[in-house]
Amino acid sequence: MRGAVVNGRRMKLVGGLAVALAVVGGLGATGAAAAPGSPNGPRYTAGSPGAGDTYFPNAGNGGYDVQHYDLDLTYAPPEADPAPLVGQLDGTATIDLVATQDLDRFNLDLRGMEVGSLTVNGKPATAVAPPAPGAEVDGAAYWHVQNDADRIWELTVQPRPKLKAGESVQLVIEYGGQTARPLDIEEALYGWVTTRDGAMVVSEPDGSMTWYPVSDHQTDKASYSFAITVPEGKVAVANGMQPKPEETAGGWTTWYWDAPDQQASYLTTASVGDFDLRDTYYSASGVPIIDAVDADVTPARLLVTNASLARQVEMIDFYEQYFGGYPFVAYGSIVDDDTVFYALETQTRPVYSRQASEGTVAHELAHQWFGDAVSPERWQDIWLNEGWASYASWMWDEHDGGATVQESYNEWYASEEPDSEYWDLQIGDPGPLGLFQDPVYDRGAGALHALRLELGDETFFAGTQLWLERYNDSAGTAEDFQAVFEEVSGEDLDGFFQTWLYEQAKPPATWTTP
Ligand code: TRP
Ligand code: ZN
Repeated sequence: MRGAVVNGRRMKLVGGLAVALAVVGGLGATGAAAAPGSPNGPRYTAGSPGAGDTYFPNAGNGGYDVQHYDLDLTYAPPEADPAPLVGQLDGTATIDLVATQDLDRFNLDLRGMEVGSLTVNGKPATAVAPPAPGAEVDGAAYWHVQNDADRIWELTVQPRPKLKAGESVQLVIEYGGQTARPLDIEEALYGWVTTRDGAMVVSEPDGSMTWYPVSDHQTDKASYSFAITVPEGKVAVANGMQPKPEETAGGWTTWYWDAPDQQASYLTTASVGDFDLRDTYYSASGVPIIDAVDADVTPARLLVTNASLARQVEMIDFYEQYFGGYPFVAYGSIVDDDTVFYALETQTRPVYSRQASEGTVAHELAHQWFGDAVSPERWQDIWLNEGWASYASWMWDEHDGGATVQESYNEWYASEEPDSEYWDLQIGDPGPLGLFQDPVYDRGAGALHALRLELGDETFFAGTQLWLERYNDSAGTAEDFQAVFEEVSGEDLDGFFQTWLYEQAKPPATWTTP
């Protein structure tokens, strides 16, 4: 679903991309010229092969709006230890979407998997070789371009009859392949990361396409349901709640999960392992909490992990006072024993690598509001995720009797000299290779604290709540964020945000004291 607020601006953005898309069209990933069409009749065109994000131009797609993904997955992890880290994933994705333009063709993103069959509203489409740009293809068809060198993975669907704007469509896609350990643009592990005992599934920013056909961008959120079949004894944990207990037959167990909230693709998980799936417990406000911890986590790390997870209830209570009610149906953590080395705020159920420290647990929980409920509309807005999650963990620290937020800010501010190259990164536009650089996190947190000092607590938290309400289940940009704070404060904040997000210099010491 595309949020109502975002819609108008998004459409403009997609229109403005016409020129860039003509170039991408040369890949054969999209149809070329607009269908002729009579002046008043429908003009069937190809949906764009990207959502319009300049950092990841081929992530997401245009021309439709996904409502729901139903993922029926069967996964055989690597056979034995030691064995190559290769698994086998077979899936059926049932995708409900609504056309947002008259569609001749449209794309999904799918990487490293092969499609076995595809139906549109129950009608089979034929697999064909990618046609030359602009070439006509007979009947209902699909083709798949996988160009690893250029990071282009596009599954093109040509529905026949063509789709009219507003029409609902159900796609059923059978697909599968060997799973490996995919890398993101900066060569960090992500996506369906095959592990010795299962898979750690963490897909930020565009790794969901490594395990299901998807419009892989946060401007098209949807609800999800999962049926994940794994060898008996393995546990599969996805987003949301278990609608019914797992079922075992013939040496395989199927795990069911439902995630009814609007969810960005990078926040989906379906992690598999030798997990200890713990009993559900509840926050004071009634949020069910379901944790899964890998049985192979070492005793020392298990001690740290258990101590941190035990604080989740208090953390939810604390954040709810500042950020409003917890936004989703459930919460909980997955702690794997893998070597991915970072955690991810997968919606309702963050995934941790090897252990969950208290600071990281506070960080990933805060992401449920900042990043998950309200997502960055463009990847360049990543500081809204990481700055906020980092700032919220400073707040937790203060609440828990550690450093005050002001002390954390001062310590950060003093940590880099003005001539340090640390200050060169524009956190408001860090580039696709800069998404997870330190300044995005701590200069981002510093920017939020400086804003709080500038506006005072009351206005700052009123703005925060307005931001979370207005863009809930949707996405917003840094400009939208600034506009909210200008609205609540009546101040012009151009200079402030210019200094904190874009100036390649240490911000002046104006904001070092309350
Ligand atoms: N978003 C994650 C967090 O801060 C971090 C993350 C995602 C990351 N992908 C990464 C960190 C790649 C380093 C490299 O919780
Ligand atoms: Zn984070």
